Amino acid sequence: MDIQCVFVVGAGVMGNGIAQVAATSGYDVIMMDIIPERLKHAKESIRKSVDKLIKKGLIDEAQRRSALNIKCVTNLAMVEEADIVIEAASEDRDIKRTIFGDLDRMSSPETILATNTSSISITKIAAATCRPEKVIGMHFMNPVPLMRLVEVIRGLNTSDDTCQTVFDICRKMGKEPIEAKDFPGFISNRILCPMINEAVFALQEGVGSAEAIDAVMKLGMNHPMGPLALCDLVGLDVVLSVMEVMQRDLGDDKYRPAYLLRKMVDAGHLGRKTGRGFYSYK
Ligand code: CAA
Repeated sequence: MDIQCVFVVGAGVMGNGIAQVAATSGYDVIMMDIIPERLKHAKESIRKSVDKLIKKGLIDEAQRRSALNIKCVTNLAMVEEADIVIEAASEDRDIKRTIFGDLDRMSSPETILATNTSSISITKIAAATCRPEKVIGMHFMNPVPLMRLVEVIRGLNTSDDTCQTVFDICRKMGKEPIEAKDFPGFISNRILCPMINEAVFALQEGVGSAEAIDAVMKLGMNHPMGPLALCDLVGLDVVLSVMEVMQRDLGDDKYRPAYLLRKMVDAGHLGRKTGRGFYSYK
């Protein structure tokens, strides 16, 4: 299938990163968010990111211009132009199912509908549409312009054709697609989020300070950043939501979220995006 137009739903950190990389990879990109302020912020993030990448010689001027010319819209009317939709809206099962029902009604029957969900069942999201064979998970990593992996997840009815097309798109975007089965958390978050959650337990119990916990993992295990700093980057609300999904859907309390994580989310300390998480970003 020939893919030209990529429609990204959601202009948050993941949505704008995906839109940017799709645009610099030669696709026509439309980015949609119902909140105009978020689109404005997304354009600013993209501008900063491409300015850094061009200085390092990682993209050229034409690619920078493509990223700056991403079309921004506040509703789904233009989705009829899309060959693939990549949804990166809130990590909430009901919201995603509503969005996929709308996408199914409004896009061409040929359009592939992909979701960037980090933990919700692709099969369940696909069931909100009449085209489950064209629904698939494309799980990008944060920060999208720098991270090479895209975890590709097939729902129960995803077709081989859809999977092959998505593998090709990932490679054209300079990413390495790896297939994971449709289990809660897939591969990446099944392993990453319990590690981050355990770091929050260690902080909660006073085993070490945030700085000490992160330094141990950086210096002792060669991780590029410590688990608490990574939690701030990913978003405390995202980690909490992934742990809750895994605890509920795998039916195992070993995935119970640390109380401190829940308390910080309740307080609105969601990490870098709110200026405060385990560290301050003012
Ligand atoms: N676009 C362009 N450049 C960017 C950027 C972006 N979006 N984000 C950071 N950079 C740049 C920085 O500005 C910096 O540039 P300079 O060298 O010119 O200052 C450069 O990248 C390196 O950044 P830093 O010096 O701040 O830090 P670093 O060397 O540690 O690299 C990192 C940053 C690539 C994020 C690295 O720390 C890393 O790989 N961390 C782990 C990230 C990770 O695990 N991501 C996956 C999270 S899980 C997920 O996303 C899925 C989920 O569902 C939860």
